[in-house]
Parts: sequence; C-alpha cells; structure tokens
Amino acid sequence: MIIKPPPRGGFLVSTTCCVALKSPTVTALQKADSIRAHKGGRPVTALTAYDYPTARLLDEAGIDILLVGDSLGMVVLGFPDTTHVTLDHMLHHVAAVARATPKALIVGDLPIHTYETPTQALETARRLVAAGAEAVKLEGGIRQAEKVRAITEAGIPVMGHLGMLPQRVLEEGGYRKKGKTPEQTEALHEGAQALIDAGVFSIVFESIIPETARLLTAALTVPTIGIGCGDQTCDGEVAVITDLLGSFPWFVPPFATPEADLASATRTAVASYISQVRGA
Ligand code: KIV
Repeated sequence: MIIKPPPRGGFLVSTTCCVALKSPTVTALQKADSIRAHKGGRPVTALTAYDYPTARLLDEAGIDILLVGDSLGMVVLGFPDTTHVTLDHMLHHVAAVARATPKALIVGDLPIHTYETPTQALETARRLVAAGAEAVKLEGGIRQAEKVRAITEAGIPVMGHLGMLPQRVLEEGGYRKKGKTPEQTEALHEGAQALIDAGVFSIVFESIIPETARLLTAALTVPTIGIGCGDQTCDGEVAVITDLLGSFPWFVPPFATPEADLASATRTAVASYISQVRGA
C-alpha cells in the first residue's frame, strides 16, 4: 500500500483503498489550542519569518510561532510601511515559510484592504491557508469582530492585533504608544473582549504602555503577545526577526534588543570576498 505524506494538518490517505485514516500530525487547530493553553503559563515565543531558511532555523531552535507578518513590506521588500503589501506578496512568502514544514504554528497576516467585509476576510484567510498558513492575523478590535467570527467559524484560527496598528500608520501620522489614558485602556479592553468572543486564540499587543499591557493581560482569557510593551507585561513576546538579528540597520525600533549584528557580519564577509576575488 502506498501512503502519501500527510497533507498539512490533514489525514493519511491510502491511494489504493481510498481509506482516510486519522493522522498523528498536529493540526492547525491543535497548534493554536496549545498556544492558547499557555495563558498564564510558560511565555509564548514568536518571531517573524518570511523565507524558507529562516523558518527552518527558527523552528529548529524551538520557536512557538512563525509570523509571516506584513512587516515583510519594510524589512524584505523595501517599502516605507505595511500599507504597500499585497495579498500576492503575502502568499509568496507564506508558501516559502510553509515549505520548511515547521512544528511551529505558521501565522500569516491579512494585508491591508483584503478584509473589508466578513466575506472578503474569509476568502483572504482561505487563500493564505491554501498557501500554507495555519492561522491568520488581522489588525483591529470591535470593528473586526464579525470578520474574525467568519474566519474562526470556518475552522481557521485567528490571532488578533491591538494597540499600535501599523496598517493605520498613515491615518495616525506615525507610530504612537497606546493605552495612555483610561479611555484608551477601556477601548482596548472592549476590543480585546470582542475579539475573544469572536474566537481568537491570542492577541498581539503592539506599543501599549507597560502598565496597561499588564492590566489587560491579567484581565483577558487568551494569551497576549507583546511587542514594544515592555518586559514581562504580556503572556509572550513577538519580535521582527531582522530586529533580533541586527540585519536591517537602517531602522531599528527603540524597543528592539538585537542579539546579533548580521549587518556588520555581512559587510565584513562581502569586503573579504571582494578582496579575495580582486586578489588584493
Ligand atoms: O507584521 C508584523 O511583523 C507584525 C508584528 C510587528 C507583530 O505584525
């Protein structure tokens, strides 16, 4: 009997007798559930990845979540912000990450203008899943709840994103800290609760001041995954991989803590290569 490799999160299918057997592979929903179960426990680790080798390396190191974020637009494609990222860009990079067949949960961002209605949000999520994403992320609170519900009811795990919303950077005129007033904090709380009611398994908190991030984390029932919210204020942490590796030296966010300097290592290696080739 010939057994095909199991499709992602799917079943083992015998091509000779057409019997579908339950596979021991971990499905996307199981992976998302295991992230949700970290609430209040061991912190969740997440990094962005946009290509096959990075995805493999991060997965081999044991990361929990690989986020194919629309930060892709800046740190890989050279755009000034995420508003230039298209669904085709995302599909191309999600597919590259998925080829690494990671144990980590692959989350793909829904790019701007691809989730204007619940129907469009579900269609976009399905296309990302067809490309290899196991979960999707979208930005915003109450106004996105119906879109989140449409996606989760179709069996696709959704991660929320609150606080600074990079896709709104042009309207907001820059990247500003959030949760500074009781009104903002209340709005964040209501947004988070609406997302949870719609079925998200976790929520990214971006650039929320530490006191508010800590308060909301304690109040919510799903893991909050922080970036730019201060140390140990959330249930986990996400970083843009180029910030961690020091490979995008032209812009480093103030909250980034590089663990390597790949920009310098690259410049040194290339200078050495040029000298060797030129025989200098
Ligand atoms: O696109 C991205 O990389 C993100 C992270 C900043 C959370 O959304």
